[in-house]
Amino acid sequence: KKVQPTIFVIFGGTGDLNARKLTPALYHLFLDGQLPEQFAIIGTGRTPLSDEQFRTRLLDGINQFSRTGKADKKAWSDFAEHMVYQASDVQEATTYQQFSKRIKGYEKDWDTEANVIYYLAVAPEFFPVIAGNLAKSSLTADAERTRIVIEKPFGHDLESSRELNKLLGQIFTERQIYRIDHYLGKETVQNIMAFRFANALFEPLWNRNYIDHVQISVTEQLGVGERSGYYDGAGALRDMIQNHLLQLLCLVAMEPPVDFTADEVRNRKVDVLRAMRRFAPEDVRESAVRGQYGDGWMEGKQVPGYREEPGANPTSNTETFAAVKFFVDNWRWQGVPFYVRTGKRLHRSASIITVQFKDVPHCIFPAETAESWQQNRLIISIQPEMSIRLQVQAKRPGLDMMLNTVDMVFDYKGTYTSQAPEAYETLLLDTMLGDQTLFMRGDQVEAAWDLIMPILNSWQGRASQSFPNYSADSWGPEVAEALIARDGFHWFTLPLNGKH
Ligand code: BG6
Repeated sequence: KKVQPTIFVIFGGTGDLNARKLTPALYHLFLDGQLPEQFAIIGTGRTPLSDEQFRTRLLDGINQFSRTGKADKKAWSDFAEHMVYQASDVQEATTYQQFSKRIKGYEKDWDTEANVIYYLAVAPEFFPVIAGNLAKSSLTADAERTRIVIEKPFGHDLESSRELNKLLGQIFTERQIYRIDHYLGKETVQNIMAFRFANALFEPLWNRNYIDHVQISVTEQLGVGERSGYYDGAGALRDMIQNHLLQLLCLVAMEPPVDFTADEVRNRKVDVLRAMRRFAPEDVRESAVRGQYGDGWMEGKQVPGYREEPGANPTSNTETFAAVKFFVDNWRWQGVPFYVRTGKRLHRSASIITVQFKDVPHCIFPAETAESWQQNRLIISIQPEMSIRLQVQAKRPGLDMMLNTVDMVFDYKGTYTSQAPEAYETLLLDTMLGDQTLFMRGDQVEAAWDLIMPILNSWQGRASQSFPNYSADSWGPEVAEALIARDGFHWFTLPLNGKH
């Protein structure tokens, strides 16, 4: 499939997301020959800038954040010709008239109609006003050719996400709305479906008869840093679990779709969310725990606690760590716990899914032969290591019969020489091609909010008495260990060099 003539209007053009992710992604797509000749980016923001100034800013972004290092001079200048800047106030009707004029100008020059993508890389309070004004200025009239991309957070709770869906639904059809969850664009995340549904080997085992439990762990070394303004009103449950971790859970737990089309795949994911066990208020304590980081040392540097971050509320009760034990109440998963955890300022940055299988029904080997006997595990490492490991028991070389655990490894680095594209490259290309498979549908977002609302409500009504309850460079609060240890398990981490 080829990208049609396209105009990108990036709201938040002077913002961080554009500099770090969007323009570098578009630049790589350009280098990769994915963009058509008839292609334009209109960046917009409040700051007055000339086209040249805008381009220079974004070149700085590429030089700092691009996965391939500094920009090539010639390639950048060819790419930058496609970029213009328009200072704007999103409240003003004239802003939209100017967009309309520019769009018509491009279409005239190109002598063809163009697809127009409105990318809202702005704070969520601007979503309604921008969407409303686009509609008022008839910029969204052509449902086939216009699309809107919405960054997270999509709502603050169930009610606000419903309102936002309703408002967008009055202006756009669902086929025009691209709700970003950048985890879905990650190469290793896309591979979960390939792994599950392109191999006959795993499906027969992929159920409650063989799987003991599943862990989804996304730990980050980074603290909240300068983002307190946003983060303090969100917290780990909203920021990560409502979207990224539940999306991962859906990919692990979903039934096989009939085909790889957007609605079929998304229907199967919604099925999982609908089957997930709702928490009664009195269950929350038992199934969900939270934490907030205190100060400490990370890799030789002293780091502040969450309440001492720049601009933070010194008495904040926002969680920077959350762990939840979920269940999926259907035939495949009845009784299998799904433990998810995420947190900031933890010992290591690593996103891994661990599927732990049940023990052998009967062990024929004497106990002393097993050095480190353990159940089989399938470990999908999303980042930074990109790998899939199957842990099995094997005989250790030697004259005696000694068993230990070894890994069968599919490692991206050792298998492919080409570099994996960044999530945003995949997602931006998909928006241009009109493929919604890797985007969240409205009902998915609502179902995920619905699931976590009892936890949010309970935490809101019950301030933690113990914050901060974990120090920087730890693995999180003790309550998170207890959550999983109670069931006889522990949080799995990948050994640093992949060896045991
Ligand atoms: C974002 C969250 O959605 O995902 C951040 O708002 C978080 O708080 C980030 O750090 C993690 O993304 P990645 O791609 O670095 O794992």
